[in-house]
Amino acid sequence: MFTKKTLRDIDLQGKTVLLRADYNVPVTDKGNITDDYRITQSLQTIKYLQSQKCKIVICSHLGRPKNSQDSSCSLRPVAKKLQSLLKTPVAFAEDCIGEKAEDAVKKLNQGDILLLENLRFHPEEEKNDANFAKQLASLADVFVQDGFGIVHRAHASTDAITRYLPSVSGLLLAHEVDVITNAMVKPERPLMAVIGGAKIADKIGVLNRFIDIADVLVVGGAMANTFLLARGIPIGKSIAESDDIHLAKDIMKRAQAASKQRNFVFYLPQDGVVAKKIDTKTTTRIVDWDAHVIADIEDYPRQPSLHSSRVEAGEFILDIGPFSSAFISGAMQLCKTVIWNGSLGVTEIPAVHNPIGPFSHGTDQLVDSMLGSHGNRPFSIVGGGDTVGYIENRKLTESFNHVSTGGGASLELMSGKRLPGVEALLNK
Ligand code: 3PG
Repeated sequence: MFTKKTLRDIDLQGKTVLLRADYNVPVTDKGNITDDYRITQSLQTIKYLQSQKCKIVICSHLGRPKNSQDSSCSLRPVAKKLQSLLKTPVAFAEDCIGEKAEDAVKKLNQGDILLLENLRFHPEEEKNDANFAKQLASLADVFVQDGFGIVHRAHASTDAITRYLPSVSGLLLAHEVDVITNAMVKPERPLMAVIGGAKIADKIGVLNRFIDIADVLVVGGAMANTFLLARGIPIGKSIAESDDIHLAKDIMKRAQAASKQRNFVFYLPQDGVVAKKIDTKTTTRIVDWDAHVIADIEDYPRQPSLHSSRVEAGEFILDIGPFSSAFISGAMQLCKTVIWNGSLGVTEIPAVHNPIGPFSHGTDQLVDSMLGSHGNRPFSIVGGGDTVGYIENRKLTESFNHVSTGGGASLELMSGKRLPGVEALLNK
């Protein structure tokens, strides 16, 4: 499936290699890395290069620095982290081009590792500047692209650089593209996609692709609120994008058409956990806007009150409810592949997340089902920065079949878009 040359396809013995990684990781004010998944996933390639006695020069971006003085975006903490993970010295150069970088490269022996300072300290990086790329290229004999999280951008270190050095893929990039493309092109069916997160506009490509190829498509998270709004369901103060209502309507129309043509289920949450504020101790209740099951049980034999099926004006929908969870888990029992991107409720705020907060039950149930708690254990792929952060936090990265290091890149790959940083590499 992966049609580009990888570092296994060329002779690297003793060469100086410029390795592009994506070490865009969260770093605290004190320089602590709170999520090192992207770093640990890059080690396999580094170890391979060491086995080939290469001099390894690593470059990456971190954050979106305004200028080169922005110390919060320095890669220095990453050099320390790499050193402790590899248990071998990792040198650090205070610039990625020019004298400082060149001198640091000159000092390398075979098998040594050097990390260069943030590429984005030079605005030329994001401008895909040829001269900047040439200067980077002058540091090495070969370029290895292994930053899956960045290959959807055409930057100097993903695109222009490939015009000045023989350029191949690293092991992580090849694996990511392979697993995700296989799941999209020839998945073991039934295939379920669970797409959460905040904005429809960010996920429109992937939603449309799943309407074409999935057997079940579940929408959750704040994004689902915009769909509910488009259906005329009151959502109180919940986050929604009123400008995107037309997108939601289009998607629902396409989904309806797909359901008429083949066995395809488009599922929007039918109930939710609501509260007046986002706080661990806040009072929550379940509102069942679609099926009215709770209303019927609570009020039997009286006429159900509107209260249990309607989100009040001052309330937020903060998670999917138990009936939605049950539906998703039930449907998942029949599925052989599940692709998940975006949490279903508010999981990203530590106060409501540790321990499992009142608004992460839906996401948690989803995780349990994906991992086989209810019997069936589908092939599982997880993507998306926040989603992977949640999985990391719960120390579950090893439990899924594939946890992607790419946020935007994995979405673009799933949407069927071409990734400039992959396209630019040598063909097999
Ligand atoms: C990411 O975290 O998705 C990548 O590192 C890309 O970062 P960017 O969105 O700032 O280009």
